[in-house]
Amino acid sequence: MQRTTSDESRDPGSPFPVRKRVAFSQHGGYVAGARSAQGALSGRLVRLASNESAFPPLPGVMNAIHSEEDAVVRYPDNDASELRSRIAEHHGLSSSQVAVGNGSLALVEQLMHVLVDPGDQVIVGDPSFIGYSSVGKVAQADIVRVPLSGSSLDLEAMAVAITDRTRIIFVCTPNNPTGGIVGALELESFLKAVPTDVLVVIDEAYREFVDDPRAANGVDFLDRANVLCLRTFSKAYGLAGLRIGYGLGDPQLIAALRSVQLPFGVNALAQRAATLSLDSQTELEGRVATVVSERLRLEEALTDIGLDVRPSQGNFVWIVLEEDTASTVKALAARGVLIRGYGHGMRATIGSPADNDAFLTALTSVRDRTGE
Ligand SMILES: Cc1ncc(COP(=O)(O)O)c(C=O)c1O
Repeated sequence: MQRTTSDESRDPGSPFPVRKRVAFSQHGGYVAGARSAQGALSGRLVRLASNESAFPPLPGVMNAIHSEEDAVVRYPDNDASELRSRIAEHHGLSSSQVAVGNGSLALVEQLMHVLVDPGDQVIVGDPSFIGYSSVGKVAQADIVRVPLSGSSLDLEAMAVAITDRTRIIFVCTPNNPTGGIVGALELESFLKAVPTDVLVVIDEAYREFVDDPRAANGVDFLDRANVLCLRTFSKAYGLAGLRIGYGLGDPQLIAALRSVQLPFGVNALAQRAATLSLDSQTELEGRVATVVSERLRLEEALTDIGLDVRPSQGNFVWIVLEEDTASTVKALAARGVLIRGYGHGMRATIGSPADNDAFLTALTSVRDRTGE
Protein backbone atom coordinates (compact mmCIF):
# COMPACT_ATOMS: atom_id res chain seq x y z
CA MET A 1 0.00 0.00 0.00
CA GLN A 2 1.30 3.42 -0.91
CA ARG A 3 1.22 5.81 2.06
CA THR A 4 1.73 9.52 1.83
CA THR A 5 3.36 11.75 4.42
CA SER A 6 2.68 15.45 4.63
CA ASP A 7 5.73 17.65 4.09
CA GLU A 8 5.19 19.30 7.50
CA SER A 9 5.85 16.07 9.39
CA ARG A 10 9.07 15.36 7.54
CA ASP A 11 12.34 16.26 9.14
CA PRO A 12 14.25 17.66 6.16
CA GLY A 13 17.48 16.16 7.52
CA SER A 14 16.07 12.64 7.80
CA PRO A 15 14.92 10.16 5.12
CA PHE A 16 12.54 8.72 7.76
CA PRO A 17 9.40 10.76 8.58
CA VAL A 18 10.02 11.54 12.27
CA ARG A 19 6.77 12.84 13.79
CA LYS A 20 7.94 14.69 16.86
CA ARG A 21 11.09 16.36 17.92
CA VAL A 22 11.79 18.71 20.81
CA ALA A 23 14.21 21.62 20.58
CA PHE A 24 16.11 21.99 23.85
CA SER A 25 17.70 25.30 24.67
CA GLN A 26 21.37 25.17 25.59
CA HIS A 27 22.64 27.14 28.52
CA GLY A 28 25.20 29.72 27.44
CA GLY A 29 28.69 28.31 27.18
CA TYR A 30 27.83 24.73 28.06
CA VAL A 31 28.39 22.31 25.24
CA ALA A 32 27.10 18.76 25.58
CA GLY A 33 29.97 16.35 25.04
CA ALA A 34 32.53 18.96 26.05
CA ARG A 35 34.21 16.35 28.24
CA SER A 36 35.75 14.39 25.41
CA ALA A 37 36.35 17.38 23.16
CA GLN A 38 38.21 19.27 25.87
CA GLY A 39 39.95 16.17 27.18
CA ALA A 40 42.18 15.98 24.16
CA LEU A 41 43.22 19.58 24.67
CA SER A 42 43.93 19.71 28.34
CA GLY A 43 44.95 16.31 29.70
CA ARG A 44 43.34 16.25 33.14
CA LEU A 45 39.84 17.63 33.19
CA VAL A 46 38.34 19.35 36.20
CA ARG A 47 34.67 18.40 35.97
CA LEU A 48 32.59 20.88 37.90
CA ALA A 49 29.65 21.15 35.48
CA SER A 50 27.15 18.54 36.68
CA ASN A 51 27.09 18.57 40.52
CA GLU A 52 28.40 15.03 40.84
CA SER A 53 30.27 13.83 43.92
CA ALA A 54 34.04 14.28 44.18
CA PHE A 55 34.29 11.16 46.36
CA PRO A 56 34.38 7.47 45.44
CA PRO A 57 31.22 5.42 46.11
CA LEU A 58 30.49 4.81 49.79
CA PRO A 59 32.16 1.82 51.56
CA GLY A 60 31.20 -1.62 50.31
CA VAL A 61 29.52 -0.37 47.14
CA MET A 62 32.29 -1.15 44.64
CA ASN A 63 32.95 -4.60 46.15
CA ALA A 64 29.28 -5.46 46.01
CA ILE A 65 29.00 -4.33 42.40
CA HIS A 66 32.01 -6.41 41.38
CA SER A 67 30.61 -9.55 42.93
CA GLU A 68 26.98 -9.21 41.77
CA GLU A 69 27.03 -11.52 38.75
CA ASP A 70 23.29 -12.14 38.97
CA ALA A 71 22.64 -8.42 38.87
CA VAL A 72 24.22 -8.37 35.42
CA VAL A 73 22.78 -11.59 34.01
CA ARG A 74 19.24 -11.48 35.45
CA TYR A 75 16.52 -8.87 35.17
CA PRO A 76 16.25 -6.68 38.25
CA ASP A 77 13.47 -6.77 40.87
CA ASN A 78 10.81 -4.71 39.12
CA ASP A 79 9.37 -3.64 42.48
CA ALA A 80 12.78 -2.76 43.98
CA SER A 81 11.28 -4.20 47.19
CA GLU A 82 14.41 -4.31 49.32
CA LEU A 83 15.50 -0.80 48.43
CA ARG A 84 12.03 0.68 48.81
CA SER A 85 11.67 -0.84 52.22
CA ARG A 86 15.16 0.41 53.23
CA ILE A 87 14.32 3.95 51.99
CA ALA A 88 10.99 3.82 53.85
CA GLU A 89 12.79 2.80 57.05
CA HIS A 90 15.34 5.59 56.55
CA HIS A 91 12.57 8.20 56.46
CA GLY A 92 10.15 6.58 58.93
CA LEU A 93 7.59 5.88 56.18
CA SER A 94 6.02 2.79 54.64
CA SER A 95 7.14 1.15 51.37
CA SER A 96 3.82 2.14 49.78
CA GLN A 97 5.00 5.76 50.05
CA VAL A 98 8.20 5.11 48.07
CA ALA A 99 8.81 4.91 44.31
CA VAL A 100 12.30 4.49 42.88
CA GLY A 101 13.35 5.64 39.44
CA ASN A 102 16.19 5.47 36.95
CA GLY A 103 17.39 8.73 38.46
CA SER A 104 14.86 11.09 40.05
CA LEU A 105 14.46 12.56 36.57
CA ALA A 106 12.75 9.33 35.47
CA LEU A 107 10.16 10.00 38.18
CA VAL A 108 9.64 13.50 36.78
CA GLU A 109 8.92 11.88 33.43
CA GLN A 110 6.53 9.38 35.07
CA LEU A 111 4.75 12.31 36.72
CA MET A 112 4.20 13.89 33.31
CA HIS A 113 2.69 10.60 32.10
CA VAL A 114 0.18 10.38 34.96
CA LEU A 115 -0.71 14.06 35.38
CA VAL A 116 -0.07 16.10 32.26
CA ASP A 117 -1.99 16.27 28.97
CA PRO A 118 -0.71 18.35 26.05
CA GLY A 119 -1.22 22.04 26.85
CA ASP A 120 -1.45 21.56 30.61
CA GLN A 121 0.72 23.87 32.66
CA VAL A 122 3.76 23.03 34.71
CA ILE A 123 5.17 25.85 36.84
CA VAL A 124 8.93 26.08 37.35
CA GLY A 125 11.35 28.67 38.70
CA ASP A 126 13.49 30.71 36.32
CA PRO A 127 16.25 29.66 36.43
CA SER A 128 15.73 26.23 37.96
CA PHE A 129 16.65 22.64 37.12
CA ILE A 130 16.47 22.32 33.34
CA GLY A 131 15.25 18.69 33.56
CA TYR A 132 11.69 19.80 34.38
CA SER A 133 11.29 21.65 31.12
CA SER A 134 13.22 19.08 29.06
CA VAL A 135 10.90 16.31 30.16
CA GLY A 136 7.85 18.60 30.23
CA LYS A 137 8.37 19.61 26.60
CA VAL A 138 8.35 15.98 25.51
CA ALA A 139 4.97 15.65 27.28
CA GLN A 140 3.87 18.81 25.38
CA ALA A 141 3.33 20.65 28.65
CA ASP A 142 3.10 24.42 28.70
CA ILE A 143 6.11 25.37 30.86
CA VAL A 144 5.35 28.49 32.90
CA ARG A 145 8.57 30.10 34.16
CA VAL A 146 8.39 32.27 37.25
CA PRO A 147 11.45 34.49 37.91
CA LEU A 148 13.24 33.87 41.20
CA SER A 149 13.34 36.29 44.07
CA GLY A 150 17.08 36.57 44.66
CA SER A 151 18.50 33.03 44.70
CA SER A 152 15.31 31.32 45.84
CA LEU A 153 12.00 30.47 44.26
CA ASP A 154 9.36 33.16 44.53
CA LEU A 155 6.61 31.00 46.00
CA GLU A 156 4.13 33.88 46.20
CA ALA A 157 4.52 34.58 42.49
CA MET A 158 4.31 30.86 41.73
CA ALA A 159 1.01 30.68 43.61
CA VAL A 160 -0.27 33.65 41.59
CA ALA A 161 0.71 31.85 38.36
CA ILE A 162 -1.63 28.91 39.06
CA THR A 163 -4.54 28.52 36.62
CA ASP A 164 -7.17 25.88 35.90
CA ARG A 165 -4.64 24.16 33.64
CA THR A 166 -1.86 23.95 36.22
CA ARG A 167 -1.01 20.36 37.09
CA ILE A 168 2.45 20.44 38.71
CA ILE A 169 4.60 23.04 40.48
CA PHE A 170 8.29 22.21 40.90
CA VAL A 171 9.73 23.56 44.14
CA CYS A 172 13.45 22.96 43.82
CA THR A 173 15.14 23.47 47.17
CA PRO A 174 18.03 24.15 47.30
CA ASN A 175 17.39 25.54 43.84
CA ASN A 176 19.65 24.38 41.04
CA PRO A 177 21.53 26.45 39.83
CA THR A 178 21.27 29.29 42.35
CA GLY A 179 21.52 27.40 45.67
CA GLY A 180 18.74 29.26 47.54
CA ILE A 181 16.37 27.36 49.81
CA VAL A 182 12.68 27.53 50.62
CA GLY A 183 11.95 28.07 54.33
CA ALA A 184 9.64 25.72 56.26
CA LEU A 185 7.20 28.51 57.18
CA GLU A 186 7.17 29.84 53.65
CA LEU A 187 6.43 26.37 52.25
CA GLU A 188 3.66 25.89 54.79
CA SER A 189 1.81 29.02 53.68
CA PHE A 190 2.45 28.28 50.01
CA LEU A 191 0.87 24.85 50.34
CA LYS A 192 -2.21 26.45 51.88
CA ALA A 193 -2.54 28.61 48.76
CA VAL A 194 -2.19 25.73 46.27
CA PRO A 195 -5.40 23.93 45.20
CA THR A 196 -5.40 20.32 46.36
CA ASP A 197 -5.61 19.04 42.77
CA VAL A 198 -2.27 20.64 41.86
CA LEU A 199 0.80 18.55 42.71
CA VAL A 200 3.68 20.29 44.47
CA VAL A 201 6.94 18.47 43.82
CA ILE A 202 9.54 19.33 46.43
CA ASP A 203 12.76 18.42 44.67
CA GLU A 204 15.47 18.00 47.29
CA ALA A 205 18.26 16.59 45.16
CA TYR A 206 20.74 18.58 47.31
CA ARG A 207 19.04 18.19 50.69
CA GLU A 208 22.06 16.51 52.33
CA PHE A 209 24.16 19.67 51.85
CA VAL A 210 21.69 22.02 53.59
CA ASP A 211 22.87 23.52 56.87
CA ASP A 212 20.40 26.42 57.14
CA PRO A 213 18.01 25.57 60.01
CA ARG A 214 15.21 27.59 58.38
CA ALA A 215 15.10 25.24 55.38
CA ALA A 216 11.99 23.19 54.75
CA ASN A 217 12.31 19.41 54.83
CA GLY A 218 9.91 18.00 52.26
CA VAL A 219 9.39 14.82 54.26
CA ASP A 220 7.64 16.89 56.96
CA PHE A 221 4.93 17.85 54.44
CA LEU A 222 3.93 14.40 53.27
CA ASP A 223 0.68 14.44 55.21
CA ARG A 224 -0.74 16.29 52.19
CA ALA A 225 -1.79 14.09 49.26
CA ASN A 226 -0.68 16.77 46.76
CA VAL A 227 2.98 16.78 47.86
CA LEU A 228 5.67 14.58 46.36
CA CYS A 229 9.21 14.76 47.66
CA LEU A 230 12.05 13.83 45.28
CA ARG A 231 15.49 12.71 46.44
CA THR A 232 18.43 11.25 44.57
CA PHE A 233 21.49 9.08 45.07
CA SER A 234 23.28 11.05 42.34
CA LYS A 235 24.67 13.89 44.44
CA ALA A 236 25.78 13.31 48.07
CA TYR A 237 25.71 9.51 47.65
CA GLY A 238 27.87 9.64 44.52
CA LEU A 239 25.87 7.23 42.31
CA ALA A 240 25.06 9.58 39.39
CA GLY A 241 26.33 7.12 36.77
CA LEU A 242 24.23 4.23 38.09
CA ARG A 243 21.06 6.35 37.80
CA ILE A 244 18.89 6.00 40.87
CA GLY A 245 16.58 8.36 42.71
CA TYR A 246 13.30 8.14 44.59
CA GLY A 247 10.01 9.82 45.31
CA LEU A 248 8.11 9.93 48.60
CA GLY A 249 4.41 10.65 48.66
CA ASP A 250 0.83 9.55 49.07
CA PRO A 251 0.42 5.77 48.38
CA GLN A 252 -2.10 6.37 45.59
CA LEU A 253 0.15 8.77 43.74
CA ILE A 254 3.09 6.44 44.29
CA ALA A 255 1.09 3.52 42.89
CA ALA A 256 0.20 5.61 39.83
CA LEU A 257 3.85 6.58 39.32
CA ARG A 258 4.96 2.98 39.60
CA SER A 259 2.27 1.89 37.12
CA VAL A 260 3.91 3.88 34.31
CA GLN A 261 7.50 2.94 35.13
CA LEU A 262 9.40 1.33 32.29
CA PRO A 263 9.44 -2.40 33.15
CA PHE A 264 12.76 -3.31 34.81
CA GLY A 265 13.66 0.37 34.55
CA VAL A 266 15.88 0.48 37.65
CA ASN A 267 18.84 -1.84 37.26
CA ALA A 268 19.90 -4.28 39.96
CA LEU A 269 23.38 -2.80 40.47
CA ALA A 270 21.83 0.58 41.19
CA GLN A 271 19.32 -0.97 43.60
CA ARG A 272 22.09 -2.83 45.43
CA ALA A 273 24.42 0.18 45.54
CA ALA A 274 21.70 2.48 46.86
CA THR A 275 20.63 -0.01 49.55
CA LEU A 276 24.22 -0.37 50.73
CA SER A 277 24.85 3.38 50.59
CA LEU A 278 22.04 4.02 53.05
CA ASP A 279 24.01 1.98 55.60
CA SER A 280 26.94 4.45 55.53
CA GLN A 281 25.34 7.50 57.12
CA THR A 282 28.34 8.40 59.29
CA GLU A 283 30.72 8.28 56.33
CA LEU A 284 28.19 10.27 54.27
CA GLU A 285 27.95 12.97 56.93
CA GLY A 286 31.75 13.31 56.97
CA ARG A 287 31.82 13.81 53.21
CA VAL A 288 28.98 16.30 53.31
CA ALA A 289 30.82 18.27 56.01
CA THR A 290 33.87 18.45 53.71
CA VAL A 291 31.71 19.72 50.83
CA VAL A 292 30.07 22.33 53.06
CA SER A 293 33.42 23.62 54.33
CA GLU A 294 34.84 23.71 50.79
CA ARG A 295 31.69 25.60 49.71
CA LEU A 296 32.42 28.26 52.30
CA ARG A 297 36.11 28.41 51.35
CA LEU A 298 35.24 28.82 47.65
CA GLU A 299 32.57 31.44 48.34
CA GLU A 300 35.07 33.49 50.34
CA ALA A 301 37.88 33.10 47.81
CA LEU A 302 35.60 34.07 44.91
CA THR A 303 34.33 37.10 46.82
CA ASP A 304 37.97 38.08 47.48
CA ILE A 305 38.68 38.18 43.76
CA GLY A 306 35.77 40.59 43.32
CA LEU A 307 33.00 38.24 42.20
CA ASP A 308 29.35 38.45 43.19
CA VAL A 309 28.85 35.06 44.87
CA ARG A 310 25.45 34.25 46.35
CA PRO A 311 25.31 31.92 49.38
CA SER A 312 24.46 28.41 48.24
CA GLN A 313 23.06 25.47 50.17
CA GLY A 314 23.88 22.93 47.45
CA ASN A 315 27.13 21.21 46.44
CA PHE A 316 27.84 24.08 44.06
CA VAL A 317 28.51 27.81 44.07
CA TRP A 318 26.51 30.40 42.14
CA ILE A 319 28.25 33.45 40.71
CA VAL A 320 26.27 36.35 39.25
CA LEU A 321 27.95 38.27 36.41
CA GLU A 322 27.00 41.54 34.73
CA GLU A 323 28.07 40.29 31.33
CA ASP A 324 27.01 37.10 29.58
CA THR A 325 28.81 34.13 31.07
CA ALA A 326 29.36 32.23 27.82
CA SER A 327 32.84 33.60 27.11
CA THR A 328 34.02 32.99 30.69
CA VAL A 329 32.70 29.41 30.69
CA LYS A 330 34.39 28.81 27.33
CA ALA A 331 37.70 30.30 28.51
CA LEU A 332 37.59 28.07 31.61
CA ALA A 333 36.89 25.02 29.42
CA ALA A 334 39.92 25.88 27.32
CA ARG A 335 41.92 25.66 30.57
CA GLY A 336 40.41 22.25 31.32
CA VAL A 337 37.84 23.40 33.89
CA LEU A 338 34.21 22.60 33.06
CA ILE A 339 31.46 24.58 34.78
CA ARG A 340 27.95 25.57 33.69
CA GLY A 341 26.86 28.99 32.42
CA TYR A 342 23.31 30.39 32.57
CA GLY A 343 23.00 33.78 30.90
CA HIS A 344 24.17 36.10 33.65
CA GLY A 345 25.20 33.46 36.17
CA MET A 346 27.64 30.57 36.42
CA ARG A 347 27.39 27.44 38.53
CA ALA A 348 30.44 25.49 39.63
CA THR A 349 30.23 22.19 41.51
CA ILE A 350 32.23 21.85 44.71
CA GLY A 351 34.91 19.36 43.74
CA SER A 352 37.88 17.97 45.63
CA PRO A 353 40.03 20.67 47.30
CA ALA A 354 42.55 20.26 44.43
CA ASP A 355 39.83 20.70 41.78
CA ASN A 356 38.45 23.74 43.59
CA ASP A 357 41.94 25.26 43.64
CA ALA A 358 42.29 24.53 39.92
CA PHE A 359 38.97 26.31 39.31
CA LEU A 360 40.07 29.34 41.35
CA THR A 361 43.40 29.54 39.52
CA ALA A 362 41.76 29.21 36.10
CA LEU A 363 39.07 31.78 36.90
CA THR A 364 41.63 34.25 38.23
CA SER A 365 43.68 33.86 35.05
CA VAL A 366 40.58 34.30 32.82
CA ARG A 367 39.66 37.49 34.68
CA ASP A 368 43.21 38.83 34.57
CA ARG A 369 43.24 38.30 30.80
CA THR A 370 39.95 40.06 30.26
CA GLY A 371 41.12 42.89 32.53
CA GLU A 372 38.23 42.69 35.02
C1 LIG B 1 17.39 19.71 41.26
C2 LIG B 1 17.68 18.43 40.56
N1 LIG B 1 16.73 17.50 40.51
C3 LIG B 1 16.95 16.33 39.90
C4 LIG B 1 18.15 16.07 39.29
C5 LIG B 1 18.31 14.77 38.57
O1 LIG B 1 18.84 13.83 39.40
P1 LIG B 1 18.95 12.31 38.98
O2 LIG B 1 20.38 12.08 38.66
O3 LIG B 1 18.48 11.58 40.19
O4 LIG B 1 18.07 12.08 37.80
C6 LIG B 1 19.17 17.00 39.31
C7 LIG B 1 20.45 16.73 38.65
O5 LIG B 1 21.26 17.56 38.41
C8 LIG B 1 18.93 18.22 39.96
O6 LIG B 1 19.84 19.18 40.00
